[in-house]
Amino acid sequence: MINLKGNWIIYLITIGVFVVLISEVAETSTTPKKELPRSANSDEWSAPSLFRDHLLEGDERKKVIYGEELIANTAKYLGPKGTIAQITNGMNCQNCHLDAGKKRWGNNYGGVSANYPKFRDRSGSIETVYKRVSDCMERSLNGKTLDSSTYEMQSMMAYIKWVGRDVEKNTTPKGVGIMPPEYLDRAASPTNGNTIYTAKCQSCHGSNGEGLMAADGMSFTYPPLWGANSYNIGAGLFRLSRLAGYVRDNMPLNQASHKSPALSDEESWDVAAFINSQPRPKKDLSHDWPNISKKPIDHPFGPYTDGFSEEQHKYGPFKPIIAARKK
Ligand code: HEC
Ligand code: HEC
Repeated sequence: MINLKGNWIIYLITIGVFVVLISEVAETSTTPKKELPRSANSDEWSAPSLFRDHLLEGDERKKVIYGEELIANTAKYLGPKGTIAQITNGMNCQNCHLDAGKKRWGNNYGGVSANYPKFRDRSGSIETVYKRVSDCMERSLNGKTLDSSTYEMQSMMAYIKWVGRDVEKNTTPKGVGIMPPEYLDRAASPTNGNTIYTAKCQSCHGSNGEGLMAADGMSFTYPPLWGANSYNIGAGLFRLSRLAGYVRDNMPLNQASHKSPALSDEESWDVAAFINSQPRPKKDLSHDWPNISKKPIDHPFGPYTDGFSEEQHKYGPFKPIIAARKK
């Protein structure tokens, strides 16, 4: 027989602890507290925090974590020496979607969950998140896509959707996407851009835009801006407004921000013009923009319906094109 006398205090304490534990569990399972978007006191978008998101559980949480890893370190898994497949050019998604697509004004994924699937003029069809990710793999990463059923693709999609989970359907908050600098009254100048590039970009991105490979030989410490390992002519950054906007708000890395850019608007357009005047991989674009009147003002390949040249659609001035289209 166990003697309960004298141990009753310990029993009471144990029961007490149990009651507290059970009520905690009951509370978290019946009244989940949705983490408030951190942007609540600002009109600019903020990414959710995985650390604070207690509702994301089990396999879904694993996928989101793995998806973030794939987006931050794409080359390690999917680059030329990738451990899972060798289907992309050695860049990381994060090179262009800063902080794994969570950085304000850093070409983040905040607007994806709320706006996809959506109709896009480039393909002339309704695009899913899968199609959009595949586009970046085939264009920005100048490679091949993965089957939608692979765990890797499922994880990247889960992560991208999670990043934008607090955004109301069909809205795009401030700080999401790329904002082009003010349009100039002249064409952007690759010659001026070359000077800016040498002074402000070359130290990291290299004198031939080739970037700097990390010691492991797998991924870039500084990604390439042109040449064989860069994005191809079908990529978003090959449009001058995308590249200039991204650069103005983010480059040089850790020196520039949307609120205090390191380059003026003019310098941003010019350095973008220089980068996109350099050689880079080709891509068959014959199926893009089935309705040619929907080509963006800075899509550099004709034919067009507005009478402006490829040259002007590549470097501007863009204001006359915008004005003509408004008519
Ligand atoms: C070379 C730069 C670059 C790389 C690398 C890149 N992207 Fe992108 N991505 C872009 C640009 C530019 C856009 C278009 C942004 C715009 O037009 O506002 C874009 C758009 C997207 C969008 C749609 C965003 C929206 O709000 O509509 C998704 C999703 C996306 N990329 C996912 C990825 C994934 C996943 C990878 C890696 C497998 C990747 N991207 C690699 C440049 C890049
Ligand atoms: C201090 C080093 C540094 C300087 C200087 C710098 N960059 Fe970058 N840049 C980076 C890094 C690192 C990344 C990738 C960021 C990441 O993966 O988180 C990047 C990414 C980019 C990208 C997108 C990825 C790609 O390779 O296409 C572009 C475009 C870019 N930089 C342009 C510029 C321009 C233009 C300048 C000069 C105005 C510049 N950078 C100056 C370090 C630098």
